[in-house]
Amino acid sequence: MCGIIGYIGPKEAADVLIDGLKRLEYRGYDSAGVAVLNGGGIEIERAEGKLTKLEAKIGKHKPHGHLGVGHTRWATHGVPSERNAHPHRAGDVVVVHNGIIENYEALRKGLLQKGCRFRSETDTEIFCHLINEELKEHKEIAKAIRSALKKVRGSYAIVVLYAKEPKKLFAAKSGSPLVLGFGDKEALVASDVPALLPYTRDVSFLEDDEFAILEEGHLSVFDEKGHPKPAEKTHIDWNPVMAEKAGFKHFMLKEIFEQPRVVEQTLMGRVQLGSGKLTLEGIEKVFGKKGFPFKKIEIIACGTSYHAGLVGKYWLEQLAHVPTVVSLASEFRYAEPLIGKETLVISISQSGETADTLAATKMAKEMKAKVLGICNVLGSSLGRMADNTLYTHAGPEIGVASTKAFTGQLTVLYLLTLEIAKRRDKISKTELIKKINEVRSAPQYLEKILENADAIKKIALGCKEAPHFLFIARGPHYPLALEGALKLKEIAYVHAEGFAAGELKHGPIALVDKGVPVVALVPPSDTYEKILSNVEEVKARGAYTIAEGEVGDKHLADKVDAVIPVPKTFYSITPLLYILPLQLFAYYIADAKGCDVDMPRNLAKSVTVE
Ligand code: M6R
Repeated sequence: MCGIIGYIGPKEAADVLIDGLKRLEYRGYDSAGVAVLNGGGIEIERAEGKLTKLEAKIGKHKPHGHLGVGHTRWATHGVPSERNAHPHRAGDVVVVHNGIIENYEALRKGLLQKGCRFRSETDTEIFCHLINEELKEHKEIAKAIRSALKKVRGSYAIVVLYAKEPKKLFAAKSGSPLVLGFGDKEALVASDVPALLPYTRDVSFLEDDEFAILEEGHLSVFDEKGHPKPAEKTHIDWNPVMAEKAGFKHFMLKEIFEQPRVVEQTLMGRVQLGSGKLTLEGIEKVFGKKGFPFKKIEIIACGTSYHAGLVGKYWLEQLAHVPTVVSLASEFRYAEPLIGKETLVISISQSGETADTLAATKMAKEMKAKVLGICNVLGSSLGRMADNTLYTHAGPEIGVASTKAFTGQLTVLYLLTLEIAKRRDKISKTELIKKINEVRSAPQYLEKILENADAIKKIALGCKEAPHFLFIARGPHYPLALEGALKLKEIAYVHAEGFAAGELKHGPIALVDKGVPVVALVPPSDTYEKILSNVEEVKARGAYTIAEGEVGDKHLADKVDAVIPVPKTFYSITPLLYILPLQLFAYYIADAKGCDVDMPRNLAKSVTVE
């Protein structure tokens, strides 16, 4: 939610800011703006809508200068408009902000009484006025900012530009992410790593309540008491090209096609063909050297990560025999969950910055549970909060619709299940080697599915005008039905629902009418016949039936209107494969409808507000 960037160095600040905003635009695209400081003062350009609008507005009259801040907005307080677009300014103070100020009404009232005049409806403008007020007492800008921050309740990441300090930028955070970049004779700060990659791969993640001062080629970090502290450097092994489209029409399509490599990389170094050895980095920090010291598992996550957790539950219960509950992080927090020392909490988040997941994780820690994170972003808040984190090596995921992160999460969950099963003596060495070999073969099967993308496109386009879609499945594929429906809703704006196929007759079947597309996931399994019966039931009521099933399954092909073949593989890894056609299905429908696939309306990639 909202992307911010700051730059100081020899380059034209506006170029770096716009380029950075392009890489952060997945975080919000209601409006965008930049502020650049030069000899003539502060120049601010803002525009409602996507970044292209701002670029068009700036045109050839780019603000010149070597110090500036930029912002791309996902609106919270105040409608999306130029007036509410960041950067905000009061006097010599310019601020960009990501987060929500909870006590903003009270602060605004106080500032109005002091004679401040507000130009926007945002909570962010509070910062500008508060800092100006503090400047009356503290001559030093850094002190004024820190003092202003003490009055604010809520979450924030801010970058401040002060016209009277033309060689410095100031940054602070609490609850929202901020990462500092060490460039050559330059310094940067941004909401997320991809914005920094063209300039540096040496970064430092600012902690809550820390404060940073950026100067050309120099970064100083201060702790919550204002004492200087060394900035902890992390080298990022992502490269800038990974955050580009590489010839694909959309990031989402590129990311779908990256999945064989994502699974490969997530497995790399953790398992080997023909060996029962599993290496899950740092796992002993949570499990101890041997055994499994927990009675149950609680998985917490949101959206697509929640669906990955649901698949994980099937694996953890069936293969490792551990009772597992999966909760939406936003519900978990308000539900008095029964957890404690005997519970392993697994928090799953692509970004590691989802506010609900972080709050639920914090609560789990307060209740003395051990927390294992599954995350894609090194240095993210979840990574720092969890007792240990297993990373999905998916590379930067830019498309708002999560795809490759999901397969990465499934891969880690599968390995984790095997590790727990091994520690609990629920799996023999032979069986473990077999299961590891199975998952090692997933990338080649995913490649095969991608070779069939044109056929999937044809099927998708055949029903692109349908206003409703149903997805049905059973067992570990049921969460995929939910995920397939979520993809279609969020990028194609059509009504889609995922159901456990056995539940159809308890109500949802009333939705089936002539021509309603029903997508059924029918891999060979113990419930194969049962789900075929469900397919018959919807067909008898006029549904247009599409089935994902094993390649060469003639019996299935005879029963449905269209088949998406999935390579023959081992049952336990089928969830990793069956999701891919559903992602493509949603993508082709959304693209054919002319939807903005990478930036769907009303959404943002990282949901950093509750
Ligand atoms: O970064 P996270 O995995 O914590 O994000 C959770 C959800 O916001 C996310 O999966 C969302 O549902 C995606 N847009 C789905 O495609």
